[in-house]
Amino acid sequence: MATITIAVIGAGTMGQGIAQLALQAGHKTVLIDQSQEQLDKAKASLGKLFNRFVEKGKITAEQADNWLNALTLSTEFSSAQPAGLVIEAIVERMDVKQSVFTTLEAIVDQDALLATNTSSLSVTEIASALKYPERFLGLHFFNPPGIMPLVEVVNVLQTEEKHVAAAEQLMTDWGKKPVRCKDTPSFIVNRVARPFYVESFRLLEEGAIDKESLDACLRSGMNFRMGPCELTDFIGHDVNYAVSQSLWEMLGYPGHLQPSFTQGELVAANYLGRKTGRGYYRYKDGKRVVEGERSTPQFVNFDDSKAPDIEAITSSDNYIGTLENGVVVMETDGYRAMDYQQEYQLPFAVIDISENQTPQTRAIAYSPKAKKLMAGAVPQYRELTENWAVVSDRPGLVNLRVISLIINEGATAVLHGVTDEAGVDSALKGGVNYPKGAFEWIDSIGLLRVIETLDALGDFYGSGRYVPSPYLIDKLEAMLA
Ligand code: NAI
Repeated sequence: MATITIAVIGAGTMGQGIAQLALQAGHKTVLIDQSQEQLDKAKASLGKLFNRFVEKGKITAEQADNWLNALTLSTEFSSAQPAGLVIEAIVERMDVKQSVFTTLEAIVDQDALLATNTSSLSVTEIASALKYPERFLGLHFFNPPGIMPLVEVVNVLQTEEKHVAAAEQLMTDWGKKPVRCKDTPSFIVNRVARPFYVESFRLLEEGAIDKESLDACLRSGMNFRMGPCELTDFIGHDVNYAVSQSLWEMLGYPGHLQPSFTQGELVAANYLGRKTGRGYYRYKDGKRVVEGERSTPQFVNFDDSKAPDIEAITSSDNYIGTLENGVVVMETDGYRAMDYQQEYQLPFAVIDISENQTPQTRAIAYSPKAKKLMAGAVPQYRELTENWAVVSDRPGLVNLRVISLIINEGATAVLHGVTDEAGVDSALKGGVNYPKGAFEWIDSIGLLRVIETLDALGDFYGSGRYVPSPYLIDKLEAMLA
């Protein structure tokens, strides 16, 4: 397929990036947009980008010229005629996309593939307007397409297998990581990654944690590049909130994906993040304004001799140790510090999970008895530099809670046949740069711990939004068989 001509419709953010990929893979590429100005801008920025590659020594000047010379600009759909593949990246509106594809299918050859880059519309519904829907599919690239490896290859009921296979092969030839998925709301990544935002923001809304600590816990404990507040400030709250809203509506308003009320307020106030100078944080000259310094806390040492003579505690995998003031420290498995206090009538602290031995910040919660004894102090644990975030006593605190919800959503996506486990994992790593996939986290955290955390959250909130996916239950039962 390397010799086919590619037509890209729409010369905006995504169209430009997709054209870049096609050119780099050696295709003659036709870029079509209703706006000549947009086309000229796209060509100029592709030229600049290729020049930067030359300056960095990645390609020769001749290579850059060849790529740019293979690009044709047009404001007419008829210029798509020689294309073997058309990828559409225009405005996100069903009526406009259907009308553009109806026009295009009359122009291109009958064996040419037609693909949409839609993020949120039904690919099946777009296909339904076509005479030959069997060569139609979704190719969902991630921003920026030149950098993000993932392409979700969305096949619809009408798509013929040979066309899906051909599109997948082409994406692999372009150096991308194609992951097949069914045409379901928001496909894989925009759905499975949602709890990272909505569940985190729920903790903020309850005042269980402050925004700086929330970001720091997930970043330094679970190796995310950015925490949810800094990331959505970067993406733009209008964009991120719109995705949450549209997914929630399309899935029939499930409680666990309900968009954050406070994020909605940010949008209403036009506090859209970096681009407006204010979101969760404030920005000046493109840099975040640091608000307030943390004070250095008092530390309490561990003292093994204070350990309670209770085998069920001290031999538990979650037992961290006992402090010299008698507070017993456990790593979270979904039980709250208060649950432990009630069961053993002792003061307890529960700390969050972390994939790093010495994360910059880790959440800790105290039972009422422990809170009195600690009197504002924190445990002296591993490195002195460790920065505790003392949070409300909630099941799974921060990291285990948010990750369990991501795992649960990934499991439901697999249950519904959207993709398979490997598909979920490579989509999360390749589309939103997650350090691990949902099912890889199950391996490091433990499936039982995830299910118990979801159950504990459901009990605590008296809410159905934390019901473990039947896929996780089946998986656990298969392990126990
Ligand atoms: P954009 O607004 O940057 O660009 C859209 C371009 O399409 C504009 O240049 C506009 O002039 C042109 N256009 C609009 N209607 C047209 C028509 N009828 N005929 C010809 N040209 C037309 O939009 P962006 O962000 O590139 O998004 C494009 C598509 O890609 C949308 O479906 C969006 O949902 C999807 N997408 C966007 C992502 C993102 O992060 N921006 C990520 C993945 C998918």
